[in-house]
Amino acid sequence: MDQPPDVIIGANGFIGSHLYHYLKNKGRNVIGTTHDASIQHASLAYLDLCNPDKSFLEATPAIGNVYCCAGVGVIDECKRNPEKTAQINVHGLLEVLLNMQKKGGKPVYFSGNMVFPGTKSDYTEEDTPKPITEYGKQKLLVEQAIQEQFKQFVIVRLTKVYGMTRGDKSLFTSWLDAWEGGGVVKSVTDITIAPVYVGDVIETVTELTSQEESGIWHLPGTTSGTVFDFSEKLAHYFHIAPALLIPSVQSEFHWLERRPVFNTLGSTKMPLVNRKQFTVEQAFEQLRAQYPSFEQTFN
Ligand SMILES: NC(=O)c1ccc[n+]([C@@H]2O[C@H](COP(=O)([O-])OP(=O)(O)OC[C@H]3O[C@@H](n4cnc5c(N)ncnc54)[C@H](OP(=O)(O)O)[C@@H]3O)[C@@H](O)[C@H]2O)c1
Repeated sequence: MDQPPDVIIGANGFIGSHLYHYLKNKGRNVIGTTHDASIQHASLAYLDLCNPDKSFLEATPAIGNVYCCAGVGVIDECKRNPEKTAQINVHGLLEVLLNMQKKGGKPVYFSGNMVFPGTKSDYTEEDTPKPITEYGKQKLLVEQAIQEQFKQFVIVRLTKVYGMTRGDKSLFTSWLDAWEGGGVVKSVTDITIAPVYVGDVIETVTELTSQEESGIWHLPGTTSGTVFDFSEKLAHYFHIAPALLIPSVQSEFHWLERRPVFNTLGSTKMPLVNRKQFTVEQAFEQLRAQYPSFEQTFN
């Protein structure tokens, strides 16, 4: 029998688009959604989690994995508009997941370190979540609902995910974009991160979904440091003038909510230990080809 299609809710986003192309390249039958009505993308179905219309799946008798890549991930936006963002991040998403459950859909949920307060480093799967931000609270609500209402599920908690595609607005590319445009980067010395490459996330998550086991897994990057440490490493690698990188602290950013200090994760069951993960140095090397305008700095 043919495998039922996997669904990617939010196939136009950063992680969702990488996942969509990865699964397609593997020959999987994938149904992706977008809530951008302006996208005339024949292969993506329209779905707005503010008011989810599930009719795009009416003709689909069975569903495989349902990858949850949609949501509002801007931390201050969740604080500013808790009800509207909870409709998208929590209620709308769960409504769609429960609807798909009837057809066998198994949730694969991308959560994150923000379910922890971040007062220490390397929380493991055994630690009790206690979010300090509205975004983290919303992530935890979904985790809890999935665990209560589904027998089969995969929840992965990620740290900061980065890409290596020019203009993808992830950690390193956003800094390079700023420097390329003649701008200055201000980055904080009082927040610790452990960035993980999106390709590693996708390979690991798809591996997890192929197993029978349900549960929560932590997927952190291999090295941790302050945000400033990473920006300094990148600046050094690309020979950026020191004046274009300014150390800062989180209080200078006037964020609506204090961020966790440690945005790292540990794991007692991390599958990545058996896999070779991309290192930050390898990422920088790849980024060099994406940003030829800096090439003269290497000569
Ligand atoms: N990136 C990270 O570092 C990170 C870390 C931990 C956890 N996560 C989690 O991983 C998931 C994916 O993250 P990401 O970085 O890929 O996010 P992203 O690039 O911001 O993409 C989120 C997607 O959500 C969709 N969306 C927004 N509002 C919607 C609505 N009302 N209805 C339907 N879809 C809506 C958008 O779809 P359209 O483009 O179609 O408008 C967008 O593509 C999120 O749940 C996030 O919390 C991410």
